[in-house]
Amino acid sequence: MKFSTTFVTCLALASGVKAAPVATQRNGSHGARVSALAMSELGDAVNDRPSWGSSNWSGGVLQGSDFRTVTGTFTIPNITMLYPGEPTNGTHSVAVWVGIDGIHDCDALLQTGVDLTMEKGIPKFKAWFEWIPGPSTDFDHELEFSVGDSVTMTVTATSKTGGIAMVENNSKGTSVNHTFANETAELCLANADWIVERWTLTSTHQDDSGRSYRHSTQVSPVDFDTLTFTNASATTANGSSLDACNARTESVDLYEDVVKDNRSSSRLQMVTTFDNSSITVSYVRGDHVK
Ligand SMILES: *[C@@H]1O[C@H](CO)[C@@H](O)[C@H](O)[C@H]1NC(C)=O
Ligand SMILES: *[C@@H]1O[C@H](CO)[C@@H](O)[C@H](O)[C@H]1NC(C)=O
Ligand SMILES: *[C@@H]1O[C@H](CO)[C@@H](O)[C@H](O)[C@H]1NC(C)=O
Ligand SMILES: *[C@@H]1O[C@H](CO)[C@@H](O)[C@H](O)[C@H]1NC(C)=O
Ligand SMILES: *[C@@H]1O[C@H](CO)[C@@H](O)[C@H](O)[C@H]1NC(C)=O
Ligand SMILES: *[C@@H]1O[C@H](CO)[C@@H](O)[C@H](O)[C@H]1NC(C)=O
Ligand SMILES: *[C@@H]1O[C@H](CO)[C@@H](O)[C@H](O)[C@H]1NC(C)=O
Ligand SMILES: *[C@@H]1O[C@H](CO)[C@@H](O)[C@H](O)[C@H]1NC(C)=O
Ligand SMILES: *[C@@H]1O[C@H](CO)[C@@H](O)[C@H](O)[C@H]1NC(C)=O
Ligand SMILES: *[C@@H]1O[C@H](CO)[C@@H](O)[C@H](O)[C@H]1NC(C)=O
Ligand SMILES: *[C@@H]1O[C@H](CO)[C@@H](O)[C@H](O)[C@H]1NC(C)=O
Repeated sequence: MKFSTTFVTCLALASGVKAAPVATQRNGSHGARVSALAMSELGDAVNDRPSWGSSNWSGGVLQGSDFRTVTGTFTIPNITMLYPGEPTNGTHSVAVWVGIDGIHDCDALLQTGVDLTMEKGIPKFKAWFEWIPGPSTDFDHELEFSVGDSVTMTVTATSKTGGIAMVENNSKGTSVNHTFANETAELCLANADWIVERWTLTSTHQDDSGRSYRHSTQVSPVDFDTLTFTNASATTANGSSLDACNARTESVDLYEDVVKDNRSSSRLQMVTTFDNSSITVSYVRGDHVK
């Protein structure tokens, strides 16, 4: 008698408990890269938009203890501006990332991912790594992806203060990584995260008297339609491997906003669904739009 491989099928606990995301502010080189933008421009692009005040990411979060690795694969989607007619010169982006400790009240967050950004109307896909509260840093410029590339993102915690962030181009069989060591902020190793985020840009400015001040704002999101993390799994210190959907997965579905067009204001949400070891994030639009 032939036994087939047992797959634990787990279908969506999708409308589960919501968790409040913390500490996913982006900083450092991301701030620096765009800090040349005028404040007024950021204002135009971001602040002038009503919102219903939910949090600003969507994806999957697996809670537990002693997480050591988190991995997920996705295909670089085509992206467009989300709001028709919007000026293209602001910062329009979402970040796709995997991480450890995205939601607990933990001092640290280890993450790596790819920004999907419209730069003056042109799609750009750059990979980065970050150990919060440190800055997020881009991998080398060669690691700029194209629509259709298959990308695997993996974080590994080798201890509470060290680890590795790795991004692989499966289409080409190449990878880059960054090793963190002796970080002062300690991980809690308490949750594994697969996230699409409307990230926060922090930039430094000077006022008229030359005093510098920091300004944080959420970037304007781009439209990616649907994005699926496949092979989404995590391992813990004892070697257990957990499919993203298999344990106490929470759907952190959010990002609600109001589409501004001339017809009406309609609701726009980034929602998450789970299926086996996949996590899918999609935009769901209200009735009156498109
Ligand atoms: C999400 O975005 C809204 C609107 O910009 C903001 O008011 C809210 O504080 C954000 N939530 C988080 C958790 O950052
Ligand atoms: C491995 O550790 C996890 C928590 O990190 C626990 O839930 C699981 O039961 C452990 N498995 C074994 C085989 O010890
Ligand atoms: C992405 O979408 C835009 C707008 O629909 C289209 O012009 C462009 O050709 C697409 N790019 C790719 C690589 O599919
Ligand atoms: C961005 O575009 C808008 C609309 O065209 C324009 O008013 C604004 O001055 C531009 N900002 C910059 C920094 O070019
Ligand atoms: C951002 O960077 C500043 C200085 O480089 C640092 O003091 C701050 O803690 C950082 N914040 C985050 C959220 O990364
Ligand atoms: C990924 O691989 C594809 C296919 O070989 C290639 O076209 C693309 O340039 C690669 N991207 C990066 C960032 O290595
Ligand atoms: C990280 O990159 C270095 C240099 O490219 C390589 O030698 C090493 O094997 C990589 N590490 C992993 C875990 O892939
Ligand atoms: C981390 O700290 C240990 C012990 O102080 C030291 O031996 C090691 O060189 C440090 N590693 C890095 C990369 O700074
Ligand atoms: C999932 O992982 C398996 C084993 O590592 C690999 O063979 C397969 O191509 C991956 N599939 C996707 C969609 O990433
Ligand atoms: C919205 O209305 C304004 C003013 O009536 C007009 O200039 C603009 O082209 C309209 N935009 C769209 C997308 O229809
Ligand atoms: C999920 O797993 C079940 C059982 O292995 C399989 O029948 C089903 O097709 C899978 N669904 C998807 C979307 O892969």
